[in-house]
Amino acid sequence: MLGGVEDAGTSETAGGGASGEVPGGATGPTGSATAPRRYDSGPCMRPGTSDWDGDGYQARFDRLAAAGAEVHGEADLVATFSPASVLDAGCGTGRVGIELARRGIEVVGTDLDPSMLATARRLAPDITWVEADLAGLDLGRTFDLVLMAGNVVLFTPAGTQAAVVAGCARHVAPGGVLVAGFSLGHGWSADDHDAAALAAGLEPVDRLATWERDPWPGDGSYLVALHRRPA
Ligand SMILES: C[S@@+](CC[C@H](N)C(=O)[O-])C[C@H]1O[C@@H](n2cnc3c(N)ncnc32)[C@H](O)[C@@H]1O
Repeated sequence: MLGGVEDAGTSETAGGGASGEVPGGATGPTGSATAPRRYDSGPCMRPGTSDWDGDGYQARFDRLAAAGAEVHGEADLVATFSPASVLDAGCGTGRVGIELARRGIEVVGTDLDPSMLATARRLAPDITWVEADLAGLDLGRTFDLVLMAGNVVLFTPAGTQAAVVAGCARHVAPGGVLVAGFSLGHGWSADDHDAAALAAGLEPVDRLATWERDPWPGDGSYLVALHRRPA
């Protein structure tokens, strides 16, 4: 267990149980005029700010891996689709994208947080990392698979979730897949996600309870949602 909290909500792979705990729990909309985040990420955000501490975030996963925890459940699930290219959307420190690249997949990572991206660039300078808001993202290309790992839809400012899903869907190639994992009960439901994906031209493929493909709904606290763009 990641000290009882886990930013990425990575389900069982990171020892967080099927629920994929969310750090600090749901704080709800802050009402702040400056891009309120709906989640408090505890020790992985710089105190008194809404900025991530990329190195601190990555260090927690490194500690888990060093302790023998399986931390690549997301990459394992992605690999079952045999994608040639993956957009790691809300990539953070590149925790997942770097593992996918190590497996021979072309990866582009994008995130709006400079600290997270600085860690990603330090760890994997050969991967393309793009600093951008997913809500307006247009990379001018598509990918076999777009991955939103680690509660991205819960960390985007309130009210931007559907735009973030649309921005990700825009980059799914015909026949390609959007994979999103997030904790439930925190303001963005499975049906919300389906509706946003449908509005963005994707169709539902499956719902899983964990990255290890445990059948939906499991304990109902975590969702891995799979959507496809019709070929
Ligand atoms: C908990 S971290 C997960 C990082 C990584 N995917 C992982 O699984 O380790 C959530 C990430 O989503 C990013 N994020 C949230 N909203 C975003 C947005 N609208 N555009 C780009 N990135 C966003 C945050 O900056 C943060 O790096």
